Amino acid sequence: MIGVFDSGFGGLCILAGMLKALPEHDFLYLGDSRRNPYGARSAGTIYEWSRGSVDWMFAQGCELIILACHTASNSALRRLQQEYLPASPYSNRRILGVTIPLVEEASRSARKRVGVLATRASCQSGSFETEIAKRNPDLKVICHAAPVLVSMIEEGMQKSPEARRILRKVLAPLKMASVDTLILGCTHFPAMEEDFRRKAGKKIRVISSSRVVGASLQDYLMRHPQIDQKIGKNRQCVFYTTEDASRFEEYGKGFLGRSFQASSVRL
Ligand code: DGL
Repeated sequence: MIGVFDSGFGGLCILAGMLKALPEHDFLYLGDSRRNPYGARSAGTIYEWSRGSVDWMFAQGCELIILACHTASNSALRRLQQEYLPASPYSNRRILGVTIPLVEEASRSARKRVGVLATRASCQSGSFETEIAKRNPDLKVICHAAPVLVSMIEEGMQKSPEARRILRKVLAPLKMASVDTLILGCTHFPAMEEDFRRKAGKKIRVISSSRVVGASLQDYLMRHPQIDQKIGKNRQCVFYTTEDASRFEEYGKGFLGRSFQASSVRL
């Protein structure tokens, strides 16, 4: 199985892209909704909670785990790969994140300025700046936190006039800074992707993880057939949440694009 981890149900948008790219592969999704939001926590807390979650997912049989949560990818991935994994019983398995696919896409196509909208913890990690500078040092990166918009989408308010107003507000400084590329650096923002595209206008290219990550995972598995061979291909997808399963199913279906059944797990 491929494990997909998020702090809640936003990562279901990214899972939807992976299911499109790899329809035969088996997936296990875990949303840690009980402790959401991760974006307002310290790097230490994000690491501890992510570690507990991936450990549980490996114990369920995941061969490879994708941290769909951008906050966990930015704040905890490196430590998980360098400290947790080698010392764990799962040292031959893999953990990947979503930052690198986004950054590679942006570094290839951006002209001068890249805007990033993300959580507070993601912005504080400095990951986007560091990774883009490694690939294209001429690009200027402007990273802004948009926690209010994340909370509104988490409450299912993405279609409300208030959410659209906040979206315009968070986009305004990036438009003022003349970004030519915008990274939607949080699981929740693909839920308003069309609004982002419309408000950003034709001059700004919007990069969304729901589109980029599926293709990148497909490419990774082609380059690593020894991992791909171990992943079951029975078109199975199972869902777990650390919160109440019925709320997760109700809110999550809009993100995944279809209804599903989830089980509740205590971590
Ligand atoms: N999943 C988080 C992210 O993509 C957003 C929600 C949270 O703060 O936990 O950064």
